[in-house]
Amino acid sequence: MIEMWHEEKIEAFRQTLLDWYDREGRADLPWRRDKEPYHVWVSEIMLQQTQVQTVIPYFERFMKNFPTITDLAMAPEQRLLKTWEGLGYYSRVRNMQKAAQQVVNDYDGVWPSDMQALQQLTGIGPYTAAAIASISFDEPVPAIDGNAFRVFARLFKIDADIAQAKTRKIFFEVGQRLIDPERPGDFNQAIMDLGSSYMSAKNYDSEHSPVKKFNASYLDGTEDLYPVKTKAPKPKPVTYFAIAVKSSVGYLWEQRPADGLLGNFWTMPLYALTDFITDSDANWTEEEMVAATQKRLATDYGVVADLKKVAGRPVTHVYTHLKWTVTILTAEVAPQRLVRGQWRAIEDIQSDPQPKIQEKIWQRLS
Ligand code: ADE
Repeated sequence: MIEMWHEEKIEAFRQTLLDWYDREGRADLPWRRDKEPYHVWVSEIMLQQTQVQTVIPYFERFMKNFPTITDLAMAPEQRLLKTWEGLGYYSRVRNMQKAAQQVVNDYDGVWPSDMQALQQLTGIGPYTAAAIASISFDEPVPAIDGNAFRVFARLFKIDADIAQAKTRKIFFEVGQRLIDPERPGDFNQAIMDLGSSYMSAKNYDSEHSPVKKFNASYLDGTEDLYPVKTKAPKPKPVTYFAIAVKSSVGYLWEQRPADGLLGNFWTMPLYALTDFITDSDANWTEEEMVAATQKRLATDYGVVADLKKVAGRPVTHVYTHLKWTVTILTAEVAPQRLVRGQWRAIEDIQSDPQPKIQEKIWQRLS
């Protein structure tokens, strides 16, 4: 059972929190210069991937490349991906473009102004919708992200498991009671600032927190028990071979299909071990795997090459549910006629957007 505060205490909390935010909040952040929903939205999506300091230059560059939502709606895909390069999780930026097209086409370029309608747009969930609605349109709805989970869990000693989807409702209701109806956007952002400073996940400093006297778990010394979060399952390991075949006219390169991981990116040929080795072949030696890959390369691309393994440990990269372990195989060949892919010059490769895994492979090769 959550013990909700009486009205005076809620008032006092709002006052304390917003006084602190006015004094010490990060007013200098580029997306806090105005309340333009386009700016708020882009920053919120970026902030879901990484921390504030990293986002700042990405945000500035994004706005330079796509100053308005119409520019985003019409951006060529490769330019969009290039602008997002390094942030990862590219489906987010593709969804952003879809949402931009919806706003431009279905709403004449004018943003819908309430949480409910915002959530109908592609890639906008309850958190992002509440952030935009509160910051840009003053709707008193709480934005429940990791910060809000942490702050509210500690303030009220809420022991519901935040890894479970149904728990969001509990926190949303608490947030709805607490949020300042006069300044909902500032309230939400103050909670975010608190959750990433005095009430951060590790190295929190409740002793000096502006809201320490409201923090039930601090007051009874149980703070490290909150929030309650069960562990996510480990990412599933998958083995890949990346094939770097070089000729005098460039590398063997191809655009991947639109759907699936790394969709539409230009990459070197990548084979998952499971593409051609079934369970019954599970005890193949590495030499046998390389030989199988070499055979597939000839069939699929028309390239006959004597593949050699690059020395050192394989390159790894973790996606949401998968952990890729990539062994790199290389060869130098005379330019051959291809049945698939193309020979792509180094300069062109470098101006393409590079998914992280390929950047890592590239570093290993040079
Ligand atoms: N984290 C997520 N959204 C944020 C915002 N608007 N300001 C600061 N940190 C955030």
